[in-house]
Amino acid sequence: MKSKLIVGNWKMNGGLQANSALLSAIQSGLSSVTCRAAVCVPSPYLAQMQTLLVGSSLAWGAQDVSAHESGAYTGEVSASMLRDFGVRYCLVGHSERRQYHAESDTLVATKAQRALSAGITPIVCVGETQAERAAGQTEAVVKRQLAAVIHANGHCISEIVVAYEPVWAIGTGLTASPEQAQVVHGLLRKQLQAATAQADRMAILYGGSMNAENAATLLAQPDVDGGLIGGAALKADDFLTILASASR
Ligand code: 13P
Repeated sequence: MKSKLIVGNWKMNGGLQANSALLSAIQSGLSSVTCRAAVCVPSPYLAQMQTLLVGSSLAWGAQDVSAHESGAYTGEVSASMLRDFGVRYCLVGHSERRQYHAESDTLVATKAQRALSAGITPIVCVGETQAERAAGQTEAVVKRQLAAVIHANGHCISEIVVAYEPVWAIGTGLTASPEQAQVVHGLLRKQLQAATAQADRMAILYGGSMNAENAATLLAQPDVDGGLIGGAALKADDFLTILASASR
């Protein structure tokens, strides 16, 4: 069985001292963890991750990457810069970026391409809003979002991680039921299978109010290969409980 992948998305939270305390609490519980694990932190703290997590089984990642390689793009951070700080993963197309920064499917696909060419695994986030679900558009929306990334990345597509994050479940305490999650994960798996022979070994993560209580049942679904955790990743005990659920 492939090992599950649990990724904490710290979003715009933290500080030097708080990060250090959180990481040491997480690291003290890592010895029994057998799943793959990572934290995606604000870019200014990547150097701190590189210092504190060297030699640890906890990998680290960024929350965004520029679609450009270098040049006059004030405020942007390139994939090769992320690589300098030992980044293994990079979120792309998180719904907060699609929503607040108007990121299009095409832009997200280009960002995934930039990450891949720097040797970083993009975690491509897809998911429908409440209104889209109510209108019966869930399948069409997630397939459209993933199709753009498949189209732009060709045979490299097997190197990405996909995260299904229903927008209505993010930070709301509303979680997709295990059955709802499995339905969408199954659709995404089929779409990947049509694009690559490696689809069965690819990770499709669930994100959206995953927590210490509901992680085990979500992770028990056949096509749920891990989790992308927001709020619960900021509490060491909760994050460790989720890691334990994924290590069974
Ligand atoms: P919450 O776990 O806080 O709902 O956030 C999910 C998320 O957006 C992870 O990327």
